[in-house]
Amino acid sequence: MIQTYQLLDCGDKQKLEQIGQYKIIRPCPQALWPKLNPENWTKKIDAEFVRTTEEKGTWDWNIPAERIPENWKVKSPNGLIWNIEPNDFGNIGIFAEHWGYVEEISEEFAPKCSVLNLFTYFGSNAVRLVEKGFSLTAVDSSKLAMTNYVANLENNKLDRNGQRLIKEDAYTFVQREIRRGAKYPAVMADAPSYGKGTKKNEMFKIEDDLIDLMVDCEKLLTEDGKFVLTLHSPRFTPAILEILCGQLFPHRTTTCREIFIEAASGIKLPSGFLVKIY
Ligand SMILES: C[S@@+](CC[C@H](N)C(=O)[O-])C[C@H]1O[C@@H](n2cnc3c(N)ncnc32)[C@H](O)[C@@H]1O
Repeated sequence: MIQTYQLLDCGDKQKLEQIGQYKIIRPCPQALWPKLNPENWTKKIDAEFVRTTEEKGTWDWNIPAERIPENWKVKSPNGLIWNIEPNDFGNIGIFAEHWGYVEEISEEFAPKCSVLNLFTYFGSNAVRLVEKGFSLTAVDSSKLAMTNYVANLENNKLDRNGQRLIKEDAYTFVQREIRRGAKYPAVMADAPSYGKGTKKNEMFKIEDDLIDLMVDCEKLLTEDGKFVLTLHSPRFTPAILEILCGQLFPHRTTTCREIFIEAASGIKLPSGFLVKIY
């Protein structure tokens, strides 16, 4: 049986997660407070991800080498099934903070409309939309990400008909769509702090490139289209984003807020910002 994902507790710059059958500790720089339930962190921990450089690290497993899994599956609270594949950056394939707001935006988008989704990764913010009948154009520069996004659609027996997969640099794709005169009723971008496209000169740095990306994404919207931006860089606070969007898009309405993952211990872990430009 596929078991669920749950954030159990967070604190002392770490988070404790039940990722299906495995109880795992990962770094969590924003959890600056003490752990709420320290006794839970010593019992039956299956693995801990330990950073060895600023970006990368190693997984220390407490189970026999022959039983260490390369991948497995978990269920989200809404019953969807997801591939888990831990990597050297400490990512596992899901970002649980997306599951909370996707339901809300799916009700604000025009029903079953066409949605451009930039930086799709394994699709934490996308699979539920496909399940609800939206036609997604999923863009990501990584082949592994696209393969796992398709696997997540298949895990949930979702038809790939009408779903586009684009393995390309997000900004390059947006510019090409503008030249083609393409329009979308909904655009979503989960902007990474830093990321590479498919070609050597294609680099996304949030500090330098976010504004151009936002301006160009807005050009792709239909008149009553909706642009949803999520980001995880602490520098772009909701107050800063509100001023920025007010200036860039005075003809639209912007709302910004923090997004959270609720831990079983009761703590609501701040996990990035949601910007709606409608
Ligand atoms: C944090 S993940 C996005 C999470 C995803 N939205 C979700 O819901 O799970 C960042 C993704 O952006 C992709 N990426 C980074 N830079 C990119 C670029 N310049 N063009 C396209 N994709 C890029 C990475 O391959 C990675 O899959």
